[in-house]
Amino acid sequence: MSTVNNQTTYNYKVVRQFAIMTVVWGIVGMAVGVLIACQLVWPQLNFDTAWFSFGRLRPLHTNAVIFAFGGSALFATSYYVVQRTCQARLFSDALASFTFWGWQAIIVAAAITLPLGFTSTKEYAELEWPIDIAITIVWVTYAIVFFGTIVQRKTKHIYVANWFYGAFIITIAILHLGNNLAVPVTMWKSYSVYAGTIDAMVQWWYGHNAVGFFLTAGFLGMMYYFVPKQAGRPVYSYRLSIVHFWALISLYVWAGAHHLHYSALPDWAQSAGMVMSLVLLAPSWGGMINGMMTLSGAWHKLRTDPILRFLVVSLSFYGMSTFEGPMMSIKTVNALSHNTDWTVGHVHSGALGWVAMISIGAIYHLIPKLFGLREMYSTSLINAHFWLATIGTVLYIAAMWVNGIMQGLMWRAVNEDGTLTYSFVEALEASHAGYLVRAIGGAVFLSGMLVMAFNVWMTVRQQDAKVLDNVPQAA
Ligand code: HEM
Ligand code: HEM
Repeated sequence: MSTVNNQTTYNYKVVRQFAIMTVVWGIVGMAVGVLIACQLVWPQLNFDTAWFSFGRLRPLHTNAVIFAFGGSALFATSYYVVQRTCQARLFSDALASFTFWGWQAIIVAAAITLPLGFTSTKEYAELEWPIDIAITIVWVTYAIVFFGTIVQRKTKHIYVANWFYGAFIITIAILHLGNNLAVPVTMWKSYSVYAGTIDAMVQWWYGHNAVGFFLTAGFLGMMYYFVPKQAGRPVYSYRLSIVHFWALISLYVWAGAHHLHYSALPDWAQSAGMVMSLVLLAPSWGGMINGMMTLSGAWHKLRTDPILRFLVVSLSFYGMSTFEGPMMSIKTVNALSHNTDWTVGHVHSGALGWVAMISIGAIYHLIPKLFGLREMYSTSLINAHFWLATIGTVLYIAAMWVNGIMQGLMWRAVNEDGTLTYSFVEALEASHAGYLVRAIGGAVFLSGMLVMAFNVWMTVRQQDAKVLDNVPQAA
């Protein structure tokens, strides 16, 4: 273990690497998002090539934003938070460094194989078996570094943020192994060991829990550390945070069947998925309220602190999408929303409003600390970014609500003689304006990320090289 003046030091190098890559992958993943949004407005942008087509770039977008951008933010913050709250250096510098380079290599492999058309066809688990094996190795190493640090902690307590990060790491390992069991037939083609409806159920047990644990539990870990830190207040209720943790992790795993309403899945399983999704509202809002109420006595800081604003607005979007989700899981509501743009709007109120905004807030909090500085280069640029992100998100999700509800209503409209009132193409034509607004919203959000990259670059240039690698524990 490294020491300076007999003091334990933290490993900030790997945190810095992941923090910077969060910004880089955020820009790449969202740029692909804007591109595919434009392809839906102007299909000519598919350029009649297979590898540049919407069908291949869409999984590139989802993998880049979820696993490259979101994943790097989770690695960076979990490595930072576990060290700070356990007052211990990471379990192993070499293994931590392996997780950084291994994760980046996996992302590059995804960026090459997906446009080439290599895919398992399972949503959010598209990568083929050799890459899946690499993910397993990197993930097990991540677990060793994270839990090894917890074992070596110098504090009595395991702070609640680590509980959420820990649940995220363990559950993602189980989901990844369970859903990707496949028989390889060639180097780049495999077939799932499951068949028919069972394959669909396993896939959505995975898909929904990828939302619950990758896109939610890990980011709740972020909330429990960065909201109190940035607000300068203790967490509103430690007791509520423990109830929140156990309720959330025990309920999420039962709700995946809401993705398979009106399918060949047995009816009782669909209804069970619906009921568990409705119950899920309670822990989701319990957690959101715990984060919000942490600001009691510090609300005035929102006037001057755009980082805190990012964090608080992310919680509002979290509350909104976890209200919308349970509503959409009600079978009669899902009959209208399923397969429409409403789902895509719901996804992005969670993805842009919650996941991206809390990550951005956390990274702004981290960057100066990681580079031995007091604050970011420009607070007004953070403020500008905040407004670009908020306006971009609102444009995106409002356009998708309008499109989604309109599509659902047009698809189900019937004439007196029982024939369909509208053809599919008519509903598609009516969606054109919404797609344009969504593309504009996405471009606005992306421009905010470019502002962030500039601000981070200017901050890093001012770094104090002396303190970079030897940050004492008390710092
Ligand atoms: C500039 C920002 C973004 C833009 C313009 C954008 C655009 C898009 C578009 C056009 C689609 C395809 C929708 C369809 O098939 O009809 C999509 C899907 C998706 N995006 Fe994004 N996106 C952005 C950011 C993000 C972020 C930050 C995340 C996650 C953290 C994310 C997660 C997803 C997911 C999960 C899907 C699949 C949705 C589904 O299957 O229903 N996106 N995005
Ligand atoms: C209580 C919490 C939530 C519940 C009960 C819930 C429920 C639902 C429902 C019913 C659907 C539509 C399924 C369909 O018709 O195909 C859906 C889709 C989706 N939700 Fe949620 N949601 C919740 C929170 C979230 C959050 C916070 C996020 C993102 C951070 C999110 C991301 C997604 C994604 C990515 C999909 C699209 C899956 C796909 O078809 O590819 N959800 N959710």
